[in-house]
Amino acid sequence: MPTEFRYITKEEMSNNIFRYKDFPVVFGLSSKYYIDKVGYYGLFFKDKLIAIAHIKITKDNICKLKAIEVKQYYQKKGYGKELLSKLEEVARNKRCKEIRLVPRDYRVFDFYKKCRYEYIHEHLMKKIL
Ligand SMILES: CC(C)(COP(=O)(O)OP(=O)(O)OC[C@H]1O[C@@H](n2cnc3c(N)ncnc32)[C@H](O)[C@@H]1OP(=O)(O)O)[C@@H](O)C(=O)NCCC(=O)NCCS
Repeated sequence: MPTEFRYITKEEMSNNIFRYKDFPVVFGLSSKYYIDKVGYYGLFFKDKLIAIAHIKITKDNICKLKAIEVKQYYQKKGYGKELLSKLEEVARNKRCKEIRLVPRDYRVFDFYKKCRYEYIHEHLMKKIL
């Protein structure tokens, strides 16, 4: 069954669609930061949110990936890569020239490398235009 990728509204974030305990590594630690923000996108499988990301687009057209997490049971099955590539499409459509992030932990470097991100000046980045 295919996944559905879409924007998550502020209202959805505050009701049952999103639960911090499903995404504890990134969102559980800093839930206060993430609450009440816009810019969430999710990957849904059978109507359940299985992966979520938060992006912010700057005035100079850089897409900053602030957070990404795949629900543990669904990790290492290609969903992280799929979500990231869909976010790149969103950013491209919004005329962003690159996606940037500050990696949370060196252990995820290989994931971003597989998604063709480069490490430059303490950021991981990918040119998308
Ligand atoms: C990092 C994360 C988003 C990756 O998502 P995922 O769905 O597990 O990754 P995918 O299955 O799409 O993996 C894509 C490729 O990266 C590799 N990969 C994924 N996680 C990896 C890891 N931790 N170390 C090494 N390689 C990894 C996969 O083996 C796969 O390689 P392949 O294309 O050769 O098969 C996910 O593991 C996660 O949510 N981790 C906890 C939260 C986190 O650390 N977020 C990142 C904040 S910077």
